[in-house]
Amino acid sequence: MDTVNFADDTLVVAAGHICLDVIPDLTELTGERLARLLQPGRLSVVGPVQLSTGGAASNTGLVFNRLGIPAQIMGKVGDDLFGAVVHRIIEKQAPGRSSGMISDPQAHTSYTVIINPPGVDRIFLHFPGANDTFRAEDVQYDVVQRARLFHFGYPPLMEQMYQGEGEELVEMMRRVKALGVTTSLDMAFPDPQMPVGQAPWRVILEQVLPWVDIFLPSLEETLFMLRKETYRELAEGAPGGDLLAVTPPELVSELGGELLSLGAKMAGIKLGYRGMYLRTAAGEVLAGMGRAAPARVGEWESRELWAPCFKVQVAGATGSGDATIAGFLSGLLRGLGGEQALRAAAAVGACNVEAPDALSGIQPWQATLERIAAGWEQISAGLENSSWIYHPASMVYQKRD
Ligand SMILES: Nc1ncnc2c1ncn2[C@@H]1O[C@H](COP(=O)(O)OP(=O)(O)OP(=O)(O)O)[C@@H](O)[C@H]1O
Ligand SMILES: [Mg+2]
Repeated sequence: MDTVNFADDTLVVAAGHICLDVIPDLTELTGERLARLLQPGRLSVVGPVQLSTGGAASNTGLVFNRLGIPAQIMGKVGDDLFGAVVHRIIEKQAPGRSSGMISDPQAHTSYTVIINPPGVDRIFLHFPGANDTFRAEDVQYDVVQRARLFHFGYPPLMEQMYQGEGEELVEMMRRVKALGVTTSLDMAFPDPQMPVGQAPWRVILEQVLPWVDIFLPSLEETLFMLRKETYRELAEGAPGGDLLAVTPPELVSELGGELLSLGAKMAGIKLGYRGMYLRTAAGEVLAGMGRAAPARVGEWESRELWAPCFKVQVAGATGSGDATIAGFLSGLLRGLGGEQALRAAAAVGACNVEAPDALSGIQPWQATLERIAAGWEQISAGLENSSWIYHPASMVYQKRD
């Protein structure tokens, strides 16, 4: 299965939020010069600028391509110079994979200025632009029709997608499902200070998850959307705001069960340095997932699994969620079983955090699997003394019944 050759067909469409990241080199800005940064009337001399694409569509799409899975990247930019740069970066990284992109003369390309001086937490200046007007009708369904899997990311950063009760999001997923394509969805954290934080997220999930085969949010997003009270209590009591540290495994398990009862067929919850959790529905449900349904349903059905992180030197988590998702879905598309796909997800996520950006840490699929096979050390997922049992052969935990 490791030598599968996917030739040049479109296997995946990676769609959703996309922007241009504008990253000035501030490495020389230390001490006195750093203190003067952003002071009115001052000029700070800085280094050259790095331009890269950001957002779920390009991050996930480019990682898929690097892992050998042909993925078309689908997002909306303005018909402007930043939009042209987004196209160019995609074409340079993954030639021929930007044909799902739309340039809208009415919109402006979304960008993020990342102010990243040494030793200080990063400051992001984000302009949502074309992402806010992305609607169900912006999806190019003729391109999606050629794919086995449609992955969509970050509705909370795309205003039309969460307006009302998320009607546009539901409509888009419904239309994709009608083509027989398997659907996958990732979230982003809805800023509680902004209108997106007040959107009826539970209702939106109730409406959309019946059309989502594979739901892949983070723990923080899931708690915020389904258990706001618990989210507040945990966040307030968490030392240093580290929600992951104070989350009991039973709560993760409950959330996984609830996501399946809301209609997802597989629920993967990303848990940062505690790894990734996966819960799957019964075999007959998984068999109805569409064109990316597991090749051997018996290797996926009725699972409750937890993969710890692989040990790496952390350089930065930009795009770690997207990379992990591409790793997981690549495993599914290449015919791995549930345990192996989850382990591959953790491996691709670990490679991501070894580099500061979203893409440069990612290694080809075969090299990633070889790194696991060579005995890659794992870090504790905090499941000691719990009802989870570690299985050395698959390198993941299974829930004891
Ligand atoms: N310190 C780490 N060491 C190794 N792997 C890590 C580490 N942090 C994260 N990962 C891997 O990356 C995956 C995704 O990270 P995370 O759970 O933060 O996703 P996310 O919340 O969607 O992140 P984001 O949206 O910020 O990219 C984790 O499930 C884990 O496998
Ligand atoms: Mg994320």
